[in-house]
Parts: sequence; C-alpha cells; structure tokens
Amino acid sequence: MASGLEWREEYRLGIGKIDQQHIHLFEIVAQITDLDAITSTKEELKAILVELSRYMKEHFSEEEVYMHQIDFPEYEYHRNLHREIIEFVNTSVTNSPTLAMIRTKLKFIIKKALIDHIVTEDMKYKLYAASLKENRFDECLVELA
Ligand SMILES: [Fe+2]
Repeated sequence: MASGLEWREEYRLGIGKIDQQHIHLFEIVAQITDLDAITSTKEELKAILVELSRYMKEHFSEEEVYMHQIDFPEYEYHRNLHREIIEFVNTSVTNSPTLAMIRTKLKFIIKKALIDHIVTEDMKYKLYAASLKENRFDECLVELA
C-alpha cells in the first residue's frame, strides 16, 4: 500500500550514483512500511533501522566527496546538516521503543530527513554543478570565437 514515502521522479538530481543511493534509501524505508504490524518483531524493525542509519552515513560521505570535488561553496553547511540528520534519525529511533510508535513517527522522520533534504539542499549542489558545466561550455564558445 502507498505510504506517501515512495521515491518520485521529481527527487532525481540527474547525478547517477547519488540518485541510485537516494532510491536505495527509499527502498530501505519501504522495508519498514511493509513490516506486518502484528507479526513483525522489534528485532526485525531494529535491524532495518540500523541499516537505514548505516546506509545514510555511507551515502552522506559520498555526497560530501562529490561536493568537495566540485568545490561547492556551502560544503560545510551541508555537511553539518548531514550530521544533524543522522543525530535526528538515531534519537528518533532510540526514543521509539515499539513498531507502532516508529510507524507513527516514520512519516515525519523520512519527510524531514530524506525528502526535504533532497528537494531543498541536495538540489543546491546539483544546480551549482550544472552552473559549472554551463560556464565551461561558455569558455569553450569563447575559445572557438
Ligand atoms: Fe545531502
């Protein structure tokens, strides 16, 4: 059943590896929303949340390498946001001892930690990278002229 937490095309940045990682984060989220409320155990839930947090950290470090490579001016600010998100996910998880509580909080956590972050913050380095490409293209035109 649709949870409202699915990947959408509008989240695509056009940066292959990063998009693939974002999609995988949504797949991990789907594993949580697909858990059966009656038969699933807390251990099952915890294992998925641990994987979500681990993969999020791995993905964020790759994004940071990318931002560093393109010399993104808001690198430090964005890096701090990543730290805050990890902290937020971890505390939300620790403070929610049952599957039902996690489910209730999940929508908020994912909306803030994943969707809003991609749409507002990740989109900024994507636009910056795109402007670099455009400038390089302009330089080529100047050379040709
Ligand atoms: Fe990011």
